[in-house]
Amino acid sequence: MNTETLDIQTVSTTPFTDQRPGTSGLRKSVVDFQKPHYLENFIQAIFNSLDGCAGKTLVVGGDGRYYNRHAVQIILKMAAANGLAKIILGQGGILSTPAASCVIRKHKTDGGIILSASHNPGGPKGDFGVKFNISNGGPAPEKVTEAIFARSKELQSYKILSCPDIDIDTIGTVQVGAMQLQVIDSVDDYQQLVESVFDFDQIYALIKGGSFRMCFDAMHAVTGPYGHAIFEKRLGAPAGTVIAGKILEDFGGGHPDPNLTYAHDLVEILFGKDAPDFGAASDGDGDRNMILGRNFFVTPSDSIALMTANHKLIPAYSKGIAGVARSMPTSRAADRVAAKMGIKCYETPTGWKFFGNLMDAGLANLCGEESFGSGADHIREKDGVWSILFWLNILAARKESVADIVKKHWQEYGRNYYSRHDYEEVDSEKAHDLMEKLDANLASMKGKKFGSRTVDFADDFSYTDPVDQSVAKNQGIRIHFTDESRMVFRLSGTGTRGATIRLYLESLELDAAKQGLDAQVALKELIDIADEVSQLKALTGRDKPTVIT
Ligand code: G1P
Ligand code: ZN
Repeated sequence: MNTETLDIQTVSTTPFTDQRPGTSGLRKSVVDFQKPHYLENFIQAIFNSLDGCAGKTLVVGGDGRYYNRHAVQIILKMAAANGLAKIILGQGGILSTPAASCVIRKHKTDGGIILSASHNPGGPKGDFGVKFNISNGGPAPEKVTEAIFARSKELQSYKILSCPDIDIDTIGTVQVGAMQLQVIDSVDDYQQLVESVFDFDQIYALIKGGSFRMCFDAMHAVTGPYGHAIFEKRLGAPAGTVIAGKILEDFGGGHPDPNLTYAHDLVEILFGKDAPDFGAASDGDGDRNMILGRNFFVTPSDSIALMTANHKLIPAYSKGIAGVARSMPTSRAADRVAAKMGIKCYETPTGWKFFGNLMDAGLANLCGEESFGSGADHIREKDGVWSILFWLNILAARKESVADIVKKHWQEYGRNYYSRHDYEEVDSEKAHDLMEKLDANLASMKGKKFGSRTVDFADDFSYTDPVDQSVAKNQGIRIHFTDESRMVFRLSGTGTRGATIRLYLESLELDAAKQGLDAQVALKELIDIADEVSQLKALTGRDKPTVIT
């Protein structure tokens, strides 16, 4: 094709100052993204941060929320104008975050752009987001996101191809200007990958056996098609197993975050009469998961510990794993398993990007976060459907109930009572003030007594990556007590309105007779100490958290 005949426009623009990617990409309200040039500037900043665009291939896909299709058109036209060789696009602009990671790796592309604000609500008044993933399939590390931010601040113009809207719904390969566009099935590559990890025959036998029932809530978000294809079509679960399986641009008005508060439909089913044996939900872009048994909630921290303890039941991990990694605020249940099994356990800052180096170097194979995220080195993102399949594989192999499996685990390793209290949309200044005051007191905390507890140490978590020695500072304030209980305070890096204070609480119970309490009851004293230490109620004017998980 003669590129001189293409109508490539160079549009002048002025930089925005607020395009620094957060915990998980650039996440803003749709209204922000609709500002003239806002999306285009950020996309151009991504392209400018690449080491030249010529000959490069990127994957593009998103969670189907409002603005997804519009953004896909802009990205394709800009990619063609910037000289990319090829874009691989999920049909209709749909790819879950784990599927995008899988496609990047499988097709050995130079990275990918994922359109999602994860679990944040969608729709014209909701949020939108853009994440850049690198060639290992994982979220761009800080040096890359900082380079994108730097480019965004100096941007004077962007390039875009002037052409009619492109057909993004028909599978096949077409030309967009001088660029190739390959539209692929959104599920196929991903399904093939998970089939190579788990024992699908064993899970099929469990589901077809007749006495096992499950329910999967896709929350009207991206995992609907994955759930229908994998749980119903491939694994034989009856139609109706997947609920809220149709992707809606506003997620049906819901908040697609799989936790006890927002996945209430599923919670009602699993805690209701004649409940199924197993329930699970995933979030907006398919990387999170919640696991439920009949009348039973598995905390994400316990889930990663249980996966570690049971990894030998899974074909892909049956020969053993090198290590497990968890984010700092995640409970230390996995550490206990790792210690007993003689494998390494790594503690990283919050955010999946910190696991990438550990997985690339073969140090950690399984990773998890308390925020309903777990995954492994089959890709470089956390993975909702993978996590659910992991549990199904455990259930199929052990033939016990979810509750029995978890309770036996506690008896063997102890129960790490755990809860996270979120204070959302707090005035930003007040939230920072609280963190600064906590910080200022850290040095004098050691040895202090609060109720029955004595402070062992208190610090602001700092992490040195064991692979590239990069340092991440100020990753959350930890107050550890001598009885192995602890609390962590940090500010969210993904919120789009005000500040969100997250308080993480954990205490260890080794006595099986005392492992059956409600977490809020078991953690009561610690909750009170947290307020005493931080003066949270007084400083923020809030008397209770907005969300408890
Ligand atoms: C939150 C979670 C974190 C997760 C991230 C992206 O980030 O706490 O574990 O990796 O969302 O899903 P935060 O808002 O706390 O910065
Ligand atoms: Zn997500």
